[in-house]
Amino acid sequence: MCGIIGIITSEKRNLIPEIISSLKNLEYRGYDSTGIAIIDNGNIKRVRRIGAPSDVFHNQEITEAFEVPSDGFSIGIGHNRWATHGKPSEENAHPHFDCGGNLAIVHNGTILNYESLRKELISLGHTFLSTTDTEVIPHLIEQSRKEGASLKDAFLNTASLLHGSFGIALISTDDPNRLLLAKHGSPLLFGILDNTLIAASSSNAILSYTNTFIALADGEYADLSIKEGSVTYIIGTILDPEKLLTKEVMTITDKSLGDMTKGEYESFMKKEIHEQPSVFRTTILGRYDEETGDAVLGGLIDYEEILRNAKQVLTVACGTAHNASLVGGVLIETLAGIPVRSEIASEFRYKKVPMIPTETVLFAVSQSGETADTLESVKEARRKGYKTFGIINVVGSAIAETVDAGVYARAGFEIGVASTKAFTAQLAVFYLLAIKLARERGMTPQKGKGLLTELEEIPNLMTKTLVDTESIVRELAEHYANKNICTINFLGRGIHVPLSTEAALKFKELTYLEAGSYPLGELKHGPIAVIDNDALSVIIMPYDELFELNKNSLEQILSKSGNVILITDEIGAKKLGAQSVDIVVIPTLKNTLLYPTLEILPLQLFAYYYALALGNNVDKPRNLAKSVTVE
Ligand code: G6P
Repeated sequence: MCGIIGIITSEKRNLIPEIISSLKNLEYRGYDSTGIAIIDNGNIKRVRRIGAPSDVFHNQEITEAFEVPSDGFSIGIGHNRWATHGKPSEENAHPHFDCGGNLAIVHNGTILNYESLRKELISLGHTFLSTTDTEVIPHLIEQSRKEGASLKDAFLNTASLLHGSFGIALISTDDPNRLLLAKHGSPLLFGILDNTLIAASSSNAILSYTNTFIALADGEYADLSIKEGSVTYIIGTILDPEKLLTKEVMTITDKSLGDMTKGEYESFMKKEIHEQPSVFRTTILGRYDEETGDAVLGGLIDYEEILRNAKQVLTVACGTAHNASLVGGVLIETLAGIPVRSEIASEFRYKKVPMIPTETVLFAVSQSGETADTLESVKEARRKGYKTFGIINVVGSAIAETVDAGVYARAGFEIGVASTKAFTAQLAVFYLLAIKLARERGMTPQKGKGLLTELEEIPNLMTKTLVDTESIVRELAEHYANKNICTINFLGRGIHVPLSTEAALKFKELTYLEAGSYPLGELKHGPIAVIDNDALSVIIMPYDELFELNKNSLEQILSKSGNVILITDEIGAKKLGAQSVDIVVIPTLKNTLLYPTLEILPLQLFAYYYALALGNNVDKPRNLAKSVTVE
């Protein structure tokens, strides 16, 4: 949610293309407006636009706007915005200035006490040009400067006054050789090159320049500067600036670089859908023992006893990660026999959950590891005495750093805003976790081995599912998109219920159309009222012990002239015989608990092709942000 870039270099050059390309890599974080500011010959020049960098920053126009001097630039900042305070507009886009136009800042996060700060600054004579919370920051720094503070002190004084969350980068004409950064609650790091330092909200924005970087922790600042012809940095804490810190320099492996491009695909989402077989394989790789029929989760190794003694499991998550947790809940309850309660993080934070912390293990599930509601839920749970574990995709992210321990999801960079491969990776972790908890509670080694053997087969079957279903799903999606269907519901029973919820979420995110999801048995208790010739029901019903019951519900829908798409397996398709419904066939599995890994694929593809048929942007659906770092 909002992306920051800042570059400082002792080798003057045209920094604009570097800022723009890094901003493009951060578009998944926000794309309603964007802006760049650089220091040019003692003045700050700024360009701001409504839209995403890839749509609005066209080379010629930008070159004209900035008129690169012959000796180039040495410092600049950029920002992608996802509006929270104030609508998307040029005035509200970052970078924001102080009254004098001597300093420019970009900010990611939310300033909770901005109203009182703004009132105070206005009474002191400051003029505000935007309706954002962010604009108090440059004015506070300006005020502190007026009162005699140095640039760095003014920056740190300001950071200490802010309530809420922030990642901030500042440039100023008062010291054009300095880039100041501060972090609390929003991610911020800087990459290290020979003569250049690049700050960013995420390492993937700058991986094409460097894979070596330092991540700031909450409450830290970094002072990046050009001194005696080279770049240098110091890091300290905002509240005790003189106490300098030595931070670990991290390196990201080359493999991650490849994940940043679309490759042969026309969109990140399509690429990520097709990456799921390999993601599933990578996520389970080396995490089980075929001899013992048990899962081996290295990240949880110090907590074996706690897991063994746990009487219940609590999951907290949002969006797709919550839907993966719901599948995980069914797996754990069915295999291990432990009750699981899955809470939406924004609810969990504020409600009374009558579980006993010492008897419960909490799993926070998150792709980004940044989602504010999930992060705060973990902090709240820790305060209450829960042991907290993470199923997180982004290594070193805020939630990953806050939980007691965890298992990384290993999905790689997910750029498409609608989550796909992270969901599958989260499922893979839940299968292993459920086996682990079950083996500690009486599941035989034989049964464990059987499940693991089937789990190993899943990546190949996922590939088969993609190959077999993509073209039929595409035809169906295009057919119904052109038919202007009024109502769409996704339905299933048992473990397929959370799949229907995820399918409806994917559909809403991408098509901007309302979609429902229900347990199939609930159909007759209300939803059936909407069924007619303009309604579409997508029923997830591979052949299992509830198949005949599902057929009843299918008949009910058909008798009301409803349109139906069935997702079933090879046996289910045979049993159904000639039906006046469209059938999408996935491979048959021995263990019906594994079906979610295959069912999700045609459901994602359906939302994808439906959205394309409507002309929507599948990688950056409107109004959404990939990581929601505000409440
Ligand atoms: C946002 C995204 C969703 C995502 C949810 C949770 O709402 O748009 O796609 O599922 O956040 O994100 P997380 O990073 O915590 O998994």
